[in-house]
Amino acid sequence: MRYPPKAQTVLALETSCDESAVAIVRIQGGRFHLIANRVASQIEEHAKWGGVVPEIASRKHLEILPVLIEEALSASNQSISEINAVAATVTPGLTGALLVGSVTGRTLAALHDIPFLGIHHLEGHLASVLLNEIPPVPPYMVLLVSGGHTDLIKVEKHCEFQRLGRSHDDAAGEAFDKVARLLGLPYPGGPAIEDLAKAGNPQSFVLPKGRVSRPEGGFYPYDFSFSGLKTAMLRKVQSLKSGPGEFPLENLAASFENVVAEVLVERSIRCTLEQGLNTLVMVGGVAANKRLREMMSEEAFKNGISIYMAKKAFCTDNAAMIGTAALIRLSSGMCSSSLQLGVSPRWPLEQADLLYQSEAPF
Ligand code: KG4
Ligand code: ZN
Repeated sequence: MRYPPKAQTVLALETSCDESAVAIVRIQGGRFHLIANRVASQIEEHAKWGGVVPEIASRKHLEILPVLIEEALSASNQSISEINAVAATVTPGLTGALLVGSVTGRTLAALHDIPFLGIHHLEGHLASVLLNEIPPVPPYMVLLVSGGHTDLIKVEKHCEFQRLGRSHDDAAGEAFDKVARLLGLPYPGGPAIEDLAKAGNPQSFVLPKGRVSRPEGGFYPYDFSFSGLKTAMLRKVQSLKSGPGEFPLENLAASFENVVAEVLVERSIRCTLEQGLNTLVMVGGVAANKRLREMMSEEAFKNGISIYMAKKAFCTDNAAMIGTAALIRLSSGMCSSSLQLGVSPRWPLEQADLLYQSEAPF
């Protein structure tokens, strides 16, 4: 990819789920610079319901997004006239929540006569690692592990993706959230389990690693399944609660966290090696998990693989990654999306190019 000789600056919006986020990102001399970054989490609003309530999410985005845009512009000492493009997540996510960012982004772009770029949320997660001081250079394998996805994606070059592995049921983050609920912990489950697990023994319980059978025999080597693990945890919790002795909350949390990390590490390393690659990237909310980061680094090192992980602040949803993805699209000649582009709850990452056609795909 050839980077533009002149600096380009985008204003990026992210509202696909329960974080309202705004960032201003600049590309200059082939490097990405984060000029302003605002994330307003709605976690407290949703925690009392045990998960994200779509209507509440949309209403909160609507209330806070204009405030965050003002804050980002004033923190960066910039006026909107100095912005070259506006970007917003348009898929996948909660329809009402996505609409808030998308309509705001398209309105700003139309008002100021600058391009609008609709961004695929997963492409944003993939771009989050490019904000590292030393970013990876394609080709590489990516483990994208979040609340909605557990995917192994080969990035041949920027904007060229091939999904090689996926979860057949729950995403890893979803499993963290559901198991946390089972253990009586608050939403989101990942950080809550991580906290408790510090005091537990990860070898206390033997838990299943969820392999996915092929109809013709054998297993899909790069695919995941977390529903059996969730059921195994439910059975353990039930039998331990009805038995004598103290409930081993910390040990359960540590064993669960450990087996999820083992599965993610084993399949990611195998996929990277078998695809003849020597670089592995890890992004998404669950990639913030310390045990997973340590285990992945250790195994990558043992196998001669260079590992790049998104900074913790950019693992969970944010707009800095959306702005970075937009700058890559701008640099690769995909200059804008149609102002008719709407939002979609689902869209394959492999078809993200279609978001930049003059005819909007949705
Ligand atoms: O990427 P993200 O913010 O949103 C999606 O696009 O899904 O990921 C959120 C998910 C939640 O399921 C949350 O429990 C999980 O990431 N998560 C973690 C940690 N921090 C967030 N899981 C394990 N350990 C963590 N430290
Ligand atoms: Zn996300």
